[in-house]
Amino acid sequence: MRPDRRATARRATLAGALALAALAAAGCRQDMHDAPRYKPLAESTFFADGSAARPLPAGTVARGFLRDDKLFHTGRTADGAMATAPPMPVTRELLLRGRERYDIFCSPCHGALGDGRGMVVRRGFKQPSSFHVDRLRNVPIGYFFYNITNGFGVMSSYATQIPPEDRWAISVYLRALQRSQHLEAASLSPEDRARLDATVPSPAAGH
Ligand code: HEC
Repeated sequence: MRPDRRATARRATLAGALALAALAAAGCRQDMHDAPRYKPLAESTFFADGSAARPLPAGTVARGFLRDDKLFHTGRTADGAMATAPPMPVTRELLLRGRERYDIFCSPCHGALGDGRGMVVRRGFKQPSSFHVDRLRNVPIGYFFYNITNGFGVMSSYATQIPPEDRWAISVYLRALQRSQHLEAASLSPEDRARLDATVPSPAAGH
């Protein structure tokens, strides 16, 4: 039975070592809990200006805020002109996203059709111009992005509520909305013309 007793003794030593290690680890853990630290913007006697927060080195940019893509963030090109095309490919997804965002953020005032007769306007807010006037049909697309970003007259900026990708999506959708209200039927392909005639009752049909 000697080998068994040796094994028991070895197990006891191992258990003791483990217990010691656990104690030591618990001690460390307590140290970390009590480590000296400052709360954000706390007072400090260590720094000459009395503040624990350190001023940012000149030129510091927070991660994700570099905004070096001028066109994407301002709607203007490098020479300062309003962009005539969006900085991303125009896809069906982009248009659908733009329609959804427009309906949420813009239609309350500009109306779902863009005629400037949204519900907020009908309740007394200043009526914006319809998007279907020649002046706005001829502005470069960057004009939409720029005004969503910076606001226009009594309309406030939507830069904090709507990220730049979505501001572009809305701008692209605005162009589609303008087309939808101002398209020569003669410019449609025969197939599209047939589809249009199938969905819109012809005035000549007479009811
Ligand atoms: C609270 C109502 C309101 C909302 C919401 C609103 N707008 Fe406007 N918008 C206006 C008014 C009013 C004007 C005209 C301001 C003026 O003349 O002082 C205007 C002007 C504009 C103009 C300039 C039109 C021109 O005549 O040159 C554009 C472009 C525009 N809005 C786009 C948008 C888009 C896109 C959205 C959604 C992201 C939006 N607006 C959301 C009320 C609103």
